[in-house]
Amino acid sequence: MTSITTLFSVILILMVSSNEALRLLVFFPLHSKSHSILGQGLVSRLLEAGHEVVHITSFPRDKSVTNLTEISLETLGMKMKEEIEKYDVFKLKNFVGKGNIGVSFFFIYFTYNVHKRILEEPHFVKFLSDPKQKFDAVILEWFFANEIAGIATLFQCPLIWFSSTQAHWQVLELVDEIPNPSYNVDLFSTSTPPLSFWERVGELYTMIKNMLIFGVLVTPFEKSIYNNVFYKIAAERGVTIPSYDEAIYNGSMLLINSHPSIGSPFRLPQNAKYIAGYHIEKQVAPMSKDLKKLMDEAKHGVIYFSMGSNLRSMDMTDHMKNSLLTMFGKLKQIVIWKFEGDLDNVPVNVHLVKWAPQQSILSHPNLKFFITHGGQLSTTESIHFGVPVIGIPVLGDQHVNMRSVTNKGFGISITLAEDMANDLLNAIEEMLENTSYRKKAKELSYIYHNRQQSPGDELVFWVEHVVQTRGAPHLRSPALSIPFYKKIYLDLLFIIISIIYLLVKATKLLVCKRCDRNQKAKKKD
Ligand SMILES: *[C@@H]1O[C@H](CO)[C@@H](O)[C@H](O)[C@H]1NC(C)=O
Ligand SMILES: *[C@@H]1O[C@H](CO)[C@@H](O)[C@H](O)[C@H]1NC(C)=O
Ligand SMILES: *[C@@H]1O[C@H](CO)[C@@H](O)[C@H](O)[C@H]1NC(C)=O
Repeated sequence: MTSITTLFSVILILMVSSNEALRLLVFFPLHSKSHSILGQGLVSRLLEAGHEVVHITSFPRDKSVTNLTEISLETLGMKMKEEIEKYDVFKLKNFVGKGNIGVSFFFIYFTYNVHKRILEEPHFVKFLSDPKQKFDAVILEWFFANEIAGIATLFQCPLIWFSSTQAHWQVLELVDEIPNPSYNVDLFSTSTPPLSFWERVGELYTMIKNMLIFGVLVTPFEKSIYNNVFYKIAAERGVTIPSYDEAIYNGSMLLINSHPSIGSPFRLPQNAKYIAGYHIEKQVAPMSKDLKKLMDEAKHGVIYFSMGSNLRSMDMTDHMKNSLLTMFGKLKQIVIWKFEGDLDNVPVNVHLVKWAPQQSILSHPNLKFFITHGGQLSTTESIHFGVPVIGIPVLGDQHVNMRSVTNKGFGISITLAEDMANDLLNAIEEMLENTSYRKKAKELSYIYHNRQQSPGDELVFWVEHVVQTRGAPHLRSPALSIPFYKKIYLDLLFIIISIIYLLVKATKLLVCKRCDRNQKAKKKD
């Protein structure tokens, strides 16, 4: 009887809480336009669902919005950006001939330092220390820093990880286990499964190398940030928090900004979900009159060229810029080039725009294809609107993304080079003549859209589910709590080897005893 009453009251509590608006903390602190687009999209979906959101961001909105509070990291972001620009490393021209730089020491230091400074930013610390701040769940963008898990421990609420890229071992490891590198490639890899022998060896090598690098050079420092920052704040809030290791492996959910129609169909635990495309508004914003007229009247169609928001076309060498301009000038199509500066001798069919309404351009029926750097947002948006691409991957996950694009057959990839105008022209001609890329893009777009729920609704559903079920413990992967030696049955192997060893020993002993006796018997004879 009492158990039935308890059951009913539990159900009642769950039902009541499901109608309540939640208070959610969204942490997307990076000073990078593309990451902030994902953060803003997440916030918009949660607000539309009637929830209250506090957003940690480097790109606060222009207007204040009901139920949204922003903690701005803009000043810090600008400062760090200026420092980076002094080094010149992130300029487009400096990636020519580099291939994929992968996880460099500079990159590791960069991500470590960014998070350290964010977590030490005084007004952010003040916000975290305020005992009046309470949340139902915390959503954290994971970008090569695990110690941020401490934020959720302070509010004693469920932690939801957000991966801005495809799934990969470093993020899956937090909610499940390290996936097998023989068919799951590293985020910065240039290979795609099925892997050849040497590619498989390469993936294993990369994984072990990165595990060692992160284990030795990053984790100890992350622990020290965790201990220095979060224990102090916890004391001010009057809560006790778990250790670093307990905190980082206690995520309730992992939202992945990918989808099998775009990336690879990673095998996921029950609490990891593909939600790519949620940032795209149901109704794309109308473009300016001039741009609309230009696209509407393009008799031979339009080609859109953008290297994304972080890599600026402006930072190409003069030779690159001029040879591309000359090449574009020979085309019949209108070319819209997202270019952040000014250029001389721009041909009549080329239109430079400082900022491009990308989704609106991609949705226009006269668009032929998109020349892109292959970032995760650009490839997602291409598939969303069914547009084929020519990719010029530069760094990070762009190589993985473009390998996936070419394997799936909805695009062509060319190598970033001083003299790439000719390669690009060949790719453009192939794209204009061969309809297979466009057909494939439409097919994949169908797969992408054919879901039970829109990605935005799905995202909101899982966030609410996590809160309503108090951290969704029923979805957690059993693999998380099992050490590696048990997974591969090293203990069993040890027992078997021990038994065999003992048996061999015992047999030898018996045989020897018998032969001893025989010998003794012989001697007596
Ligand atoms: C703001 O949040 C309250 C609950 O906290 C909700 O009732 C209301 O609809 C929300 N307003 C908007 C504009 O979403
Ligand atoms: C792990 O998360 C759950 C759900 O949010 C929470 O109840 C629990 O206290 C957390 N455990 C630790 C060790 O932080
Ligand atoms: C078009 O491109 C596809 C994919 O690269 C290729 O398989 C096909 O042979 C091409 N068709 C023509 C007519 O060149």
